[in-house]
Amino acid sequence: MTDAEQISLFDLDPSPKAKQTAKQSSKAAKPAPPVPVGVTYADLDALKADAIACQKCPLAATRTNVVVERGNRQALIAIIGEGPGQNEDETGLPFVGKAGQLLDKILQSVDLDPEKDVYICNVVKCRPPNNRVPEDIEMAACKPYLLEQIRLIDPKIILLTGATAVKAVTGDKRGITKIRGEWGEWEGRLIMPILHPAYLLRNASREKGSPKWLMWQDIQTVKAKYLEIKSQLQGQDNIEEDEEEF
Ligand code: URA
Ligand code: SF4
Repeated sequence: MTDAEQISLFDLDPSPKAKQTAKQSSKAAKPAPPVPVGVTYADLDALKADAIACQKCPLAATRTNVVVERGNRQALIAIIGEGPGQNEDETGLPFVGKAGQLLDKILQSVDLDPEKDVYICNVVKCRPPNNRVPEDIEMAACKPYLLEQIRLIDPKIILLTGATAVKAVTGDKRGITKIRGEWGEWEGRLIMPILHPAYLLRNASREKGSPKWLMWQDIQTVKAKYLEIKSQLQGQDNIEEDEEEF
């Protein structure tokens, strides 16, 4: 398949159905703002139970559903978005509206299964009114859930979609177009900022250098690293199995 054909896989159906299923002044990378410590959950069900009753920030007042997760809790890749939109607020699932459908297509274009190969969540679990960017105090209030999700999932690769997710997780305030596609390390994990799929929806071009083209480069880089890590882990498993025989 040519690059152009591959990128065309990102195009949405004409009538997509909703799927069922601490402040810093400098722009350079700095440590993330401090978060409350000591919140630990035994498992993701316990986390979810707490989150769906959460009243820790003003977004609780306007939400319909708390949007915690979708995908595979054992996945090697976690994808972190900004916050629920209208479809997500209505269904209680992250990335199920147009941007989410595009995200699924992007994953599928490199044979990553959105339900099996990734775990998907957001920085804030409740929808900001009119899809505004979440406030710093909302992101800070919600961060313990996100940190616990990451600890419990234990992903080897974290993809951060858009500048808000990058800022919330790493504290890096640089523009997304500067840092997308670059591997970084955060808390012992590989991270990569990528463009937000909603941004791709607003930019139809598939020309070289366009947002879709850039996403196509980045997702291929991610897939290659994923395969590398997967085979390393399988190698380790085999060694452990061999050792058990002795
Ligand atoms: N945009 C996001 O960042 N997250 C969602 O869940 C949906 C749209
Ligand atoms: Fe709680 Fe997060 Fe929802 Fe705020 S956004 S009410 S902190 S779950």
